Amino acid sequence: TKRAAILGSGHYVPTRVVTNDDLSKLMPTSDEWIHQRTGIRERRFIERTGIGASDLALPAAKMALEQAGRDVKDVDAVIFATLSPDVNFPGSGCFLAHKLGIPGVPALDVRNQCSGFLYSLSVADAWVRAGVYKNVLIAGAEVHSTGMEFNERGRDVAVLFGDGAGCVLVGEATRDGQGIHNVELHADGVGAQELWVEAPASMYIPRLTPEMFDEGRHFPRMNGKQVFRWATEKMPEVAHSVVRRAGLTMTDIDMFVPHQANMRINQLVAAKLGIPDDRVVHNIERYGNTTAATIPIGISESWRAGKIGPGSRVLMAAFGAGFTWAGSVTVSR
Ligand code: ACO
Repeated sequence: TKRAAILGSGHYVPTRVVTNDDLSKLMPTSDEWIHQRTGIRERRFIERTGIGASDLALPAAKMALEQAGRDVKDVDAVIFATLSPDVNFPGSGCFLAHKLGIPGVPALDVRNQCSGFLYSLSVADAWVRAGVYKNVLIAGAEVHSTGMEFNERGRDVAVLFGDGAGCVLVGEATRDGQGIHNVELHADGVGAQELWVEAPASMYIPRLTPEMFDEGRHFPRMNGKQVFRWATEKMPEVAHSVVRRAGLTMTDIDMFVPHQANMRINQLVAAKLGIPDDRVVHNIERYGNTTAATIPIGISESWRAGKIGPGSRVLMAAFGAGFTWAGSVTVSR
């Protein structure tokens, strides 16, 4: 039977660095508060308006294709994971495929927030194994900076998120034992209102009333403590499950790439799994939470830093809005 593999990865972040001190000029917060609770020192924001998630994904996609030794014309499907699409519709996958110059190639948007990359990986894995498509480009890309509230009401969310993109190319594994061993997905809508952007909403007429606008219900709202509790329970659970199903134990894992929501979540999850810190990928200090982009950015940076190489057994896990959570074990090509 065929196995799918991640054949290449790439990433791109905007050049504009925004430090915690920069944010403390916009709203009541401090470097101390942010760093102590989240580990974040700085994040990247787009340099000007008019840049969408697909623009950030474009250079990351080219980098992934180059590493995979594939041409743009080899891509026969695009999956785009984002919660901050260029526009409300159509999906950002259509924009990215157009910018890549591949008319007619199918483009699917995945709306699963922080778990969006792993949901996309599951789809790509199934497509390649079934022989539906041969070279599936996955993009995880976000522009959060234009959708947050930089004031006292929104500060708990606004300090967490950054802009960025990561891409991988998924194709047929070339060697035995390598590739995507499994991807496990979960969701529980009991937590839907614990982290959400409520409006514009099709269940209201109009979808965004002046009152809702004044209340800021078009901005993300989060019950941070609840999200923290769930994340530190569900990420270890799904990580144990995928490692066991891959026929491995935690000590076999060469590198753990957790979703980057909070340094304390990463450390707690790694400790529960018994994975030492030198085998955990962190980029939260530099980029904040880039949602669907955190894991592919982590993979791309780790490849280039030599932390992941041929044959590396990589564990990924994510938790986010929905609630949704997911895990995967892959062996690098
Ligand atoms: N600066 C200063 N003070 C702040 C800020 C800020 N940016 N934000 C909130 N506060 C204040 C609050 O008003 C509150 O004040 P009060 O006690 O007077 O009411 C206080 O700080 C809350 O502080 P803590 O209780 O210490 O907050 P907590 O320990 O819950 O940490 C945090 C908050 C960092 C958000 C944490 O809950 C967390 O990381 N949660 C998980 C977040 C997460 O993972 N979200 C993303 C999932 S990704 C996705 O799918 C999109």
